Amino acid sequence: MSASAAAPHSQGGSGRALVTGGAGFIGSHLVDHLLTEGWEVVVLDDFSSGRLANLPDHPSLRVMVGDVRDGAAVRQASAGCSVIFHLAAVVGVRRVVADPLRTIGVAVHGTEQVLDAALARRARVVLASTSEVYGLSDALPFQPDGLLVLGPPTVRRWAYALAKALDEQLLFAYRERGLEGVVLRYFNTYGPRQESAGYAGVVAVFCAAAAAGRPLLVHGDGRQTRCFCYVEDTVRATYRAAVEPAAEGNVFNLGTTEEVTIRELAQEVVALAERPLEVRFVPFAEVFGPDFQDPPRRLPDTRRAEEVLAFRPQTPLREGLARTLAWARAQHVLAGGS
Ligand SMILES: NC(=O)c1ccc[n+]([C@@H]2O[C@H](COP(=O)([O-])OP(=O)(O)OC[C@H]3O[C@@H](n4cnc5c(N)ncnc54)[C@H](O)[C@@H]3O)[C@@H](O)[C@H]2O)c1
Repeated sequence: MSASAAAPHSQGGSGRALVTGGAGFIGSHLVDHLLTEGWEVVVLDDFSSGRLANLPDHPSLRVMVGDVRDGAAVRQASAGCSVIFHLAAVVGVRRVVADPLRTIGVAVHGTEQVLDAALARRARVVLASTSEVYGLSDALPFQPDGLLVLGPPTVRRWAYALAKALDEQLLFAYRERGLEGVVLRYFNTYGPRQESAGYAGVVAVFCAAAAAGRPLLVHGDGRQTRCFCYVEDTVRATYRAAVEPAAEGNVFNLGTTEEVTIRELAQEVVALAERPLEVRFVPFAEVFGPDFQDPPRRLPDTRRAEEVLAFRPQTPLREGLARTLAWARAQHVLAGGS
């Protein structure tokens, strides 16, 4: 670790942090957490999927509208920061499939700008990566140092995973020049403020449908599993990655180890909704085209995160789903629904 960067925070103190993509789902919860911990926060977001309504009106928060691919904007936003949480990305299968070029461009060129600025500022970078990088690997539970088994470039879905994997490589290449960096691979984080339009999260999609009284559409036979982590649990560990000296130079899996099938998830949401709702099964090809590939299972090994980041997910799925559904209902009413 370099002496000037994370040292002030290793004792639990606060400073100034940049959160790229801070108006988005996870980013805005992270901003809330940083403000509670006494940090000054700068958000850089292009508002392509983020919303101003996600952010509080707070004297220690400055919001900049800008693109992470714009080096000058990133340099300006990171002035005086000792930590950069890099969350800006094109998120959601539907968006990725619709625009792989933007997905790759934001991930690769945006991350390069962030790493350049961080190196110049001697700031630690906490990079939001994804369980998608494990691709079609069947080496369960996924190890942070395990193989990444990505599908072919002819399948658009893999644009996101490939770009995020390259982001991780970029971060490690910059470390060789003296950068401090941490990679976090998020596994299906969910909670209030996750938007449903881009199919970023199945929980958000199900809760929005339940709030509107629409059928819950399960892709495929619904036997595929995911591990769902409530956003506050993800955010606590994300914060630790910035302030914990031993986190530096590591890759962490952040997710629960409770596997849930998408079919079970739909049933949970229906039970919580307390209204008659149809669960409908739709072939993947019908939604995403004929060459779509979907990993059947995802299960993280989280021991490293438990040891170094004190990662202990505390929110039971049912409770997290209830909170998310309550939020989705409030959004539905705000949008004029009944
Ligand atoms: N939610 C999950 O389960 C999950 C899983 C794995 C990885 N991640 C990663 O976590 C991060 C946050 O995801 P999220 O779920 O909060 O999604 P989100 O879409 O809510 O957040 C992404 C934010 O980035 C902003 N953004 C997009 N392109 C930008 C650009 N060029 N310049 C500036 N801002 C830009 C968006 O407006 C949005 O506010 C992403 O990097 C994502 O890949 C999330």
